[in-house]
Amino acid sequence: MTSPTWLEHWSDDDGAARVRALFAEAFGSDGVPDGVWSAPGRVNLIGEHTDYNAGLALPVALPHRTYVALRSRDDDVVRLTSAQAPGRTWETDLADVAPGGTQGWGAYVAGVAWALRQAGHEVSGFDAVVDSCVPFGAGLSSSAALECAVAVALDAVHGLGLAADDAGRAALVTACVRAENEIAGAPTGGMDQAASLRCSVGHALLLDCRPGLSALESAGRVPFDLAAVGLTLLVVDTRAEHALVDGQYAERRASCERAAEILGLPSLRDIDPDRLDDALTALGDGPEADVLRRRVRHVVTEIARTEQFAATVRAGRVADVGDLMDASHASLRDDYEVSARELDLVVDSARAAGALGARMTGGGFGGSAIALVRDADVDGVVEAVQAAFDAASLTAPGFLLAPPSAPAH
Ligand code: GLA
Repeated sequence: MTSPTWLEHWSDDDGAARVRALFAEAFGSDGVPDGVWSAPGRVNLIGEHTDYNAGLALPVALPHRTYVALRSRDDDVVRLTSAQAPGRTWETDLADVAPGGTQGWGAYVAGVAWALRQAGHEVSGFDAVVDSCVPFGAGLSSSAALECAVAVALDAVHGLGLAADDAGRAALVTACVRAENEIAGAPTGGMDQAASLRCSVGHALLLDCRPGLSALESAGRVPFDLAAVGLTLLVVDTRAEHALVDGQYAERRASCERAAEILGLPSLRDIDPDRLDDALTALGDGPEADVLRRRVRHVVTEIARTEQFAATVRAGRVADVGDLMDASHASLRDDYEVSARELDLVVDSARAAGALGARMTGGGFGGSAIALVRDADVDGVVEAVQAAFDAASLTAPGFLLAPPSAPAH
């Protein structure tokens, strides 16, 4: 059997040293940044494809982070280098950043400066370098980690003071989501940026995406100390390609909006779960209605599962959430149709080897799955997943551990 690959995270000191060295290399002998900032990737415990339906999600921040060394400039020029694209500089003028007009990975960075300016903040150009141990394209929010690290960096160098409290962080989330939706062109829902900026160590974030809520109302903290009860959250990066800019994610989102419109509701959150059958009937007949029925059933039942998951954890019964994870996966696979062969394989093999529950996490179509595992069973579950991938001749997966970690700082 191939030995399992563990995707380790860096210490903050290591991450900072890497970007400081890269900054000096990229920007010459005066290569000293104003500072170093970082932000985590995330895994979502449950509540998938609910954020853009004004629903609930329950992410935790990963210990894997993206590091940014940044120096403010007097003009509007942005110059970027990444350890992932060495030797190449991405450059723009902030005056040229506009929806539809900015290409490449720098859109996620310059987009944040654009969005902060749109919100009335005075933000100038900057030189910055980036390095990251958040796996890319793995459904673990590497793009949100990049945006959020840049957001706290710009907040600090311009003295905006937003990162100082949760309400300010919610405003930074809005800027990062605008960057991703309007400048990078990915129509995502905001859970990832909220997780990266608003999670806390030892807790999951119960995110309520109904519009108009105060910062306090939109974010509950759910203690999630698995170590204390002998459990581990195992993350498996399937290495199956995953992209949110492609049409599938946008298509799911559009279906939900269409269903809400047919039902005459502001969002699918407004469907009473006890009257789900009535709503499903009201979607009408024919093949299009059948598809919408499945999408709606996923969203409404997933919001209910998320509520139940959070309540079960708050009641001190975290070992009992396995069935909710399994049901979430089945719903994403069969009703929402966003799973993939590799994700199903992780889920099935992890469960067969004793995981209490398992599910895909994030947008789907590839990316990562999570499994809740008793500490004593972790090695067996890892071996079983690895063996299943070997037997299917698939690219070896990557394994990560996910203790709930710190937000952007
Ligand atoms: C991606 C998006 C999020 C969310 C999830 C699915 O991660 O960025 O906004 O919609 O998919 O839950």
